Amino acid sequence: MTTKISQEEMAQQRGFMEKVAEINSKGSPPVAHVHTFGCQQNVSDGEKIKGMLAQMGYGFSDTPDGADIVIFNTCAVRENAEDRVFGNLGALKHEKRRNPDMIIGVCGCMVQQEHITRKIKQSFPHVDLVFGTNSLHMLPQLLYEQLTERKRKFFIPEGDGVIAEGVPVRRESRLKVSVPIMYGCNNFCSYCIVPYVRGRERSRELLDIVSEVKRAISDGAREILLLGQNVNSYGKELGTSFSELLREINAIDGEFRICYMSSHPKDFTRELIDTIAECEKVTRHFHLPVQSGSDRILKLMNRRYGREDYFGIIDYIREKVPDAALTSDIIVGFPGETYEDFCETLSLVERVKFDSLYTFIYSPRKGTKAAEMPDPVSADEKGKWFRELLEVQGRIGENAYNRYVGRTFRVLCEGDGRTQSSLLTGKTPQDVIVDFEGDRSLIGQFVNVKIEKAFNWALIGKIIN
Ligand code: 5AD
Ligand code: SF4
Repeated sequence: MTTKISQEEMAQQRGFMEKVAEINSKGSPPVAHVHTFGCQQNVSDGEKIKGMLAQMGYGFSDTPDGADIVIFNTCAVRENAEDRVFGNLGALKHEKRRNPDMIIGVCGCMVQQEHITRKIKQSFPHVDLVFGTNSLHMLPQLLYEQLTERKRKFFIPEGDGVIAEGVPVRRESRLKVSVPIMYGCNNFCSYCIVPYVRGRERSRELLDIVSEVKRAISDGAREILLLGQNVNSYGKELGTSFSELLREINAIDGEFRICYMSSHPKDFTRELIDTIAECEKVTRHFHLPVQSGSDRILKLMNRRYGREDYFGIIDYIREKVPDAALTSDIIVGFPGETYEDFCETLSLVERVKFDSLYTFIYSPRKGTKAAEMPDPVSADEKGKWFRELLEVQGRIGENAYNRYVGRTFRVLCEGDGRTQSSLLTGKTPQDVIVDFEGDRSLIGQFVNVKIEKAFNWALIGKIIN
């Protein structure tokens, strides 16, 4: 069962926050190191962890050296993400020996898997606290118990997921603000661990989201990133929709940009594309993960669309939003994929002409359907296909940004330049990086930038009035 955490329970956690703050007020201010691995959803959870810790009196450091508490907020999407966490955890052993009072906590997607918690229990005895994605809001209580009882604790309640409103947030940026709109995923793509570690789809109330966005904008936010594992199915259980949410947010006063992630092509309807075309604040960047160009593999992946459906969506986007930028995710080497299937992916890439691609070699995830499928192709062979895909996309993407030269875009000045630190940087409405000359006092404002030059990963422009 999915549950919204009651106000009483949230008040209880605020009580624990006060108790921990009281303990912390006695000595010199304690320091926390929070390391987040993985996607934007996890980064957003990391902001909540830091928000709670800040209210409990913690300052923050970029390294675990000398910290009073270290929290690893983990990702399970591919094996190398998990390997990195274990590597970092191993390295903490020495630090803990030097500083036995240090509390080491691990949370996030990885620890929702039994074989992982077993491994932590057995091989990482210096880890004090492990808590699941459903108990993030209980960090104050768990931390209070650690400080007063000093007992090793693994707290991973069962259930399909919770929604906890009112958790304090310490945002990484004032200008660019992430707002979760839904949690979990019901799609069960056969390769993906997310539905197992993040629970069932559940949407936040539209009014809760809109008031958070309004508050962020009046606090100076100029880019709102709406987050969910599958934002296109937002609001189904509440009788609303992602289109309705976009229209509500687009109608909020002020100049700001609306971005969103992640999308699933099966729910990317014409109505949604029409909405985006009409909402001038919504990004002109469409990130639509296709994963494969072969109908046979898409079926095995349980994606619930075929390549022709995908072309239909892309063609409609191009018709309604002619200056759209298109990007995608692709998995190479799914179990049973043949070179012929892979060539279908290449032909899809050639046909769509993405601006850029995020490419991954398939990584088996324990407990998923795909992990049980026969996978005869060698890692070497998959590596070859992977490089071939990069080459094809490299050729397609090389001159993709030339089409922006000579055009003028409204750009938010975000900070120091990415090509040269003497310049300022921002992004076009298509989410393409653009650097331009300007005074640092412009940071946080929108300006008109005329594009003069294109590299294959960024643009150079000039402010015009
Ligand atoms: N192996 C490789 N890539 C994966 N992704 C998700 N699960 C796996 C996996 N088991 C990729 C998909 C997804 C992106 C976030 O990560 O392409 O869109
Ligand atoms: Fe990684 Fe997925 Fe968890 Fe994000 S939701 S941290 S991508 S496993």
